[in-house]
Amino acid sequence: LRALAARNAPHLAIGTAVATNPLLGDPGYARVLAREFSMVTPENAMKFQFIHPRPGRYAFAEADAIVDFAEHNGMAVHGHTLAWGEALPRWLSRGDYSDGELREILADHIATVVGRYKGRVAGWDVVNEPLEPFGPGLRRDSPWYRAMGADYIAFALRAAHRADPDAALYINEFACEERNAKSDALYRLARGLLADGVPLDGIGFQLHEDLTDDYRPVTAAAFRDNVRRFIDLGLAVRISEMDVNLHDDASPARLQQQAAYYASMLALARDIPAFSAFSTWGFTDRYSSLQDWWNPDGLGNGLIFDPALRPKPAYDALRRVLAR
Ligand code: G3I
Repeated sequence: LRALAARNAPHLAIGTAVATNPLLGDPGYARVLAREFSMVTPENAMKFQFIHPRPGRYAFAEADAIVDFAEHNGMAVHGHTLAWGEALPRWLSRGDYSDGELREILADHIATVVGRYKGRVAGWDVVNEPLEPFGPGLRRDSPWYRAMGADYIAFALRAAHRADPDAALYINEFACEERNAKSDALYRLARGLLADGVPLDGIGFQLHEDLTDDYRPVTAAAFRDNVRRFIDLGLAVRISEMDVNLHDDASPARLQQQAAYYASMLALARDIPAFSAFSTWGFTDRYSSLQDWWNPDGLGNGLIFDPALRPKPAYDALRRVLAR
């Protein structure tokens, strides 16, 4: 995929989320990763909970391993994530910190983490999932919101920009692919930040989707209609976390539907130069986040390689999109 994209869609990084355990312990995983993808996003290793596990103490080993692997294989790194209301260590979420102390903690966190990878991480999901799951409001159940209100978003973006002025700074959200109350709110948020001169370079659209009898996934046409207004603000856009959950029906017909769906989204990103990346949330059903937590039955079937690391129809369909 990465070779075809380099030739036929040079604006587009082909990315995936990477988990540290298989990267270090499963040579087959590492081989396919390096062969197929030009960008990696650490699935968990750069989250606050893992990289900043004790007050003032950072643990960089796992994130370093991913960045080293990427550099060794000529891949870019997309950092994930700096200011999020989840994946926080207990010392922080249970700590009794004042608003001012929380500001200091976030400022130190961003300066330290972004500073460490300055020049080696191409872009950051500075703010992850700032909006309510399905609402137009900001999520309030995060220490950052509690300490600073809506200002935490600009605060985090400015801190990241100071730590690495060359990194591309993103807000990453889900359920904003089509026009709805939530994507309207994201649009207003982005427009307001830009009007205030806040360093925001782009928006990540996660694209976690489901294909089942009773669910209608976002279409590429609806996504195209919505993404245009973000591009018109001068922003880059990226598909940041795509997976396509088939739940309990991974029949051959469904696998073909999954393939066509993946292909429709990649074709969109291929045709619009403002898309900086097409990134999936993992690449093999051998280690899918759909296994451990969306799917209590343990059915991970949303990615493009099967558990034996064989290409699925979705992989072949993505190749065909990039070959054109
Ligand atoms: O390895 C740890 C272990 O050390 C720890 O003690 C234990 C208890 O917490 O569990 C293990 O950590 C888990 C980690 O995955 C690694 O397996 C965390 O509990 C678990 O919460 C974490 O889940 C991740 C989730 O985000 C929450 O951070 C998923 O792997 C990851 O795929 C998922 O990714 C999110 C994106 O960051 C944001 N967008 C949605 C996306 C999918 O849900």
